[in-house]
Amino acid sequence: MTALEGKHIVLGVCGGIAAYKAAELVRLYKKAGAHVRVLMTPHAHRFVTPLTLGTLSEEEVHTEIFPPNEKGSWTRHVEIGLWADIMVVAPATAQTVAKLADGTCDSMLTAVALSRRCPLLVCPAMDHDMYMHAATQGNMDTLRHRGDIVMEAAHGELASGLVGEGRLPEPADIVNTTIRVLTEAAPRRSGPLAGQALTVTAGPTREPIDPVRFISNHSSGTMGFAIAETAARLGAEVTLISGPVALPTPAGVARRVDVETTADMHEAVLARGADDVIIMVAAVADYTPASASTRKIKKDGHGLALELVPTVDILADLGSRKQRHQRLIGFALETHDGLENARGKLARKNLDWIVLNILGEEGAGFGAGTNKVTILGADGSTVKLPVLPKAEVAAAIVHHTLLGV
Ligand code: CTP
Repeated sequence: MTALEGKHIVLGVCGGIAAYKAAELVRLYKKAGAHVRVLMTPHAHRFVTPLTLGTLSEEEVHTEIFPPNEKGSWTRHVEIGLWADIMVVAPATAQTVAKLADGTCDSMLTAVALSRRCPLLVCPAMDHDMYMHAATQGNMDTLRHRGDIVMEAAHGELASGLVGEGRLPEPADIVNTTIRVLTEAAPRRSGPLAGQALTVTAGPTREPIDPVRFISNHSSGTMGFAIAETAARLGAEVTLISGPVALPTPAGVARRVDVETTADMHEAVLARGADDVIIMVAAVADYTPASASTRKIKKDGHGLALELVPTVDILADLGSRKQRHQRLIGFALETHDGLENARGKLARKNLDWIVLNILGEEGAGFGAGTNKVTILGADGSTVKLPVLPKAEVAAAIVHHTLLGV
């Protein structure tokens, strides 16, 4: 798997002679497994056709904010901006660098540049004197001060016949820088949870009996993933720690850590132990075999008694060392005496909130697309939600517990 596998790249192409190299760049990104959507400035059409870049990217190419023959698409710049993990402008002309610096919004490319929440990588290409001009250098400095990444133009022969800085960096170098930015740079986030580090656990844990068997449960991870997605959309820097599930990482999640056992999950959660918010949605196994066999256990015609010992209670451990700035949210899955049991867990584990799920209630439980929960607060509050799709339950939990709405 490459570092770009599954990444969403928006490539902005401007009108300069180096625009033809955008075709090679799209090809390299696609080869690395990325999804690419191309935006061209009107001038870029003079150097390379949307047909070329659309064919290579396998996506529609956009230029205007208001395309002449389309209905209901005026918010597409927002959708593309939110879709992107990174926006790369290559080649970036002096004109577009200036527009990016001053926030001009006159094409799909510049509109997406303003709407996005992801890093911006600018790869300038222009004639030497334009590149060296104080105005252009000043604009590039403005972008860098803002946290955007501006590559140095390469030195060499230019289309004008001059020799000097101004050439587009080699596509392979742009790809390497894209990887570096995606792995190192913290994405720019905005929203009511911006600046908050939030960890969500999701899915089941697996406790091995022998190399081929394990104890686990039916958790699908859907609820935890939906909470991670909601929190990321609201601007939090989200770490998603997941047991074995078949779900893709939600958009906007800063990092995902995949674990198997409760002990692994405990270690991964402690690594995020200083985060502002920790939400334990995972259905953590309460017991683990006293010792896992290193060899497959063979049947011998008799019964088999497994000795189980308790696992560490991750949430109780976090509660016992809770920091002043921190909020802890737990889940309780109950079949009976729900409110009483959940209140007990809220107090025992030193939580701020607990979300009660009652198994057996219509519309609630594992695998269902919907859920029905009650949110209990350490302040004594009780909020009962109706049966809702899991994404809406997730949104309601995040809004109620973290935003007070
Ligand atoms: N939890 C945890 N570590 C465990 C077990 C549970 O962190 N070993 C967390 C779960 O992620 C959940 C909360 O504790 O947020 C409640 O889990 P639950 O299994 O419902 O409650 P328990 O405390 O394990 O009690 P019981 O199984 O007896 O109902």
